[in-house]
Amino acid sequence: MATFTRSDWQKGYKSQRGEYSYWVQEVRGHIPFTGTLFRNGPGLLDRNGQPYGHPFDGDGMVCRFSFVDGKVHFCNKFVRTPEFLAEERAGKILYRGVFGTQKPGGWWQNFFDRKLKNIANTNVIYHGGKLLALWEGGQPYRLDPHNLDTIGRENFNSALAPGQVFTAHPRFDSDSGVLWGFGVEPGLKSRIRIFTVDGAGNYQEQYQTKVPGFCFLHDFAYTENYQIFAQNPITFDPLPFLLGFKTAGMCLELKPDTPTMLLVFDRSGQLQTYPTDPCFIFHHSNAYLEGETIILDSVCYATYPKLEPNINFLDVDFDRVIPGQLWRFYIHQRTGTVKRQLLLSRSCEFPSIHPQYVGKKYRYVYMGCTATETGNAPLQAIIKLDLETGEQQVHNFAPRGFVGEPVFIPNSPVEEDGWVVTLVFNAEKERSELVILDARQVDGEPVAIVCLEHHIPYGLHGSFTREVFLR
Ligand code: CO
Repeated sequence: MATFTRSDWQKGYKSQRGEYSYWVQEVRGHIPFTGTLFRNGPGLLDRNGQPYGHPFDGDGMVCRFSFVDGKVHFCNKFVRTPEFLAEERAGKILYRGVFGTQKPGGWWQNFFDRKLKNIANTNVIYHGGKLLALWEGGQPYRLDPHNLDTIGRENFNSALAPGQVFTAHPRFDSDSGVLWGFGVEPGLKSRIRIFTVDGAGNYQEQYQTKVPGFCFLHDFAYTENYQIFAQNPITFDPLPFLLGFKTAGMCLELKPDTPTMLLVFDRSGQLQTYPTDPCFIFHHSNAYLEGETIILDSVCYATYPKLEPNINFLDVDFDRVIPGQLWRFYIHQRTGTVKRQLLLSRSCEFPSIHPQYVGKKYRYVYMGCTATETGNAPLQAIIKLDLETGEQQVHNFAPRGFVGEPVFIPNSPVEEDGWVVTLVFNAEKERSELVILDARQVDGEPVAIVCLEHHIPYGLHGSFTREVFLR
């Protein structure tokens, strides 16, 4: 039984051209915290009617929800990169996208055109006094948190050299107040740089190293002693890309019967490599040390969820899309072996935890998931999984609601004490709603529903800060 209709789901991928700033009139329930939630994601899915080939190629649009005195202020703005502005002026696609978008005009227009657009669409963080829109293929864009105006590219007083990139998935160590991140320059050997940004916003490279093979590393897991990556057994065939037949995302292939490599770096940059079963990973939930064993929880796909050329992503057959499932890896350092265990077979993505438990033993993870336990479909529910007992709480928004990443907003250091917020696309109203759930009882009545006057296209990642930036 389908839990959704395709036309409902597709509506959430309509471009949002409007830039708004208003106090939200319709707030049901009460707002229990003060602070700011930032979200990032593709705002435009087409340029003057010419669709981007993949939603990951859409122009970054940052949303800001300010929570103050029980009221909510909403504001959104596009990240004005030079490429975005050039395409605005031209009124057409000028750049190739990484995932699915070719410039119009056939292969000869794309021939040897390796200039990609920094779309700044994947995440947005506030750290060290700077609001940064992140995209893993380039450097961050700094925004003014008060009005979301684009200030410019952030290279941390030239500490980030030209060509050095900044992940969309840094990890915040709440004990030290330091943000840890990485950048990858892929090649036959791939260079991985690990860096920190301290509480004053200073960038410092910690170490860099080269690992054999092509690396597509979207996320990493952080503990006080280790940084952990999953090197998916991906090959990149650059020829069709260089010749202009395919986008870079279409040139990725999962090598059959080749192990996934878990790369474990210690604080001095020493690398230990642990082969495990072939799988593809975008996101990690968390990692921590238990005795001499590193526990790593990640959403795994059986193979790389590739988009075939000439298939519109809006027509994708969900029955043929590989589900993401939550697995636990036990990395035994003494024996050099890895065991893994399925934690949740239901299709899920966007794991989120209490931020003070990053790198530490933890018990609860919150994720977007499908409305039913089996099969694949868009994310329509939020699940809380108790990793100790296996107990699940599911808040279902099907059939007409579609969810994004949940963000955990802590109330205290107690792991369950806080709220889980997510943007829900309400296909009936064709508007988006921010839903606030009590983390102790995710399947209970929402604490509050913040109804926007318009929709926000399905987004990617975001973050919360206690600060408020309204003048
Ligand atoms: Co991500």
